[in-house]
Amino acid sequence: MKLDGKNVVITGATSGIGKEAAIEIARMNSCLVLPVRNMEKGEQVKKQIVAESGNSTVYLMKCDLASFDSIRDFAREYKRRFSGLHLLINNAGIWEYKRSETRDGIEMTFGVNHLGPFLLTNLLLDEIRGGAPARIINVSSEAHRYTGMNFDDPEGRKRYSSFKSYGQSKLANILFTRHLAQMLREDGVTVNCMHPGFVATNLFDKIAPFLRPVFGFFMKTPIQGAETIVFLASSPGVDGSTGGYYVNRKKKRPSGAALDNEAAEKLWRLSCQYTGIEETSLITSQFTNQV
Ligand SMILES: NC(=O)c1ccc[n+]([C@@H]2O[C@H](COP(=O)([O-])OP(=O)(O)OC[C@H]3O[C@@H](n4cnc5c(N)ncnc54)[C@H](OP(=O)(O)O)[C@@H]3O)[C@@H](O)[C@H]2O)c1
Repeated sequence: MKLDGKNVVITGATSGIGKEAAIEIARMNSCLVLPVRNMEKGEQVKKQIVAESGNSTVYLMKCDLASFDSIRDFAREYKRRFSGLHLLINNAGIWEYKRSETRDGIEMTFGVNHLGPFLLTNLLLDEIRGGAPARIINVSSEAHRYTGMNFDDPEGRKRYSSFKSYGQSKLANILFTRHLAQMLREDGVTVNCMHPGFVATNLFDKIAPFLRPVFGFFMKTPIQGAETIVFLASSPGVDGSTGGYYVNRKKKRPSGAALDNEAAEKLWRLSCQYTGIEETSLITSQFTNQV
């Protein structure tokens, strides 16, 4: 897809993989809108994106994915200032070692990694449909294989494990991708998700310092981590391809739990209840187990 003059929203562009993806996508002459939680940090990164890409159509807008009000404010402001959305990249994500909660009292990882992007995407759907042909890319992880969806306790209220919580949120990214892909099949909007690799970013800031050099030895650079996002954003090779999970620019079969259509539908309903989005029903049998 040619991104020249196209409106692109990338979350989590203030660091790591998202920042490198933003620089690369800015180089394609797109109009970048960056929802950021920290405007001061955002200003610094915006300068870097403009300097490295030579593209000055980069806009910062306040959006904290740990607050439904902030996401709603962002979507309202986006609609006021821009017309149509051609590419949405839900990249922002966290790994929380200790259980904490969003402003809405929801476990932080589930809130920021899944419910935040779920709400943001739904609120921008009219703009995305209006921008068709359009693409949505959700940044998931191979960590989705750690676990299944714990619908009895999705927020780890009874028992919290950072591995399970992160893994479940990344599984939710794939279930969300597949459900939304099906919903938008007739609208000229494709929805895919991906794993960036094991990448040296701030995601692992909170791990024991002595482990960092050990991890670092195996890690990709953020530029390498952004490659599959840029591929899914711009390659004509994926025109019309939807509902897929990609690793190293290739489609890969996700876990069995990620292909569970009933779980995808159940998660959709649950996410609607959490965020106040009106439910759109989908007949499970319409799913194609496309991988
Ligand atoms: N690194 C890996 O090995 C790896 C592997 C698989 C998947 N991933 C996924 O890749 C994505 C990008 O992560 P990364 O590795 O590049 O980590 P990172 O360097 O920590 O970047 C995370 C980004 O998310 C933003 N963010 C966090 N909480 C937010 C909130 N409440 N509201 C708005 N933005 C928020 C951060 O903003 P601030 O700058 O303000 O903190 C930052 O821009 C994540 O979805 C992650 O799960 C990473």
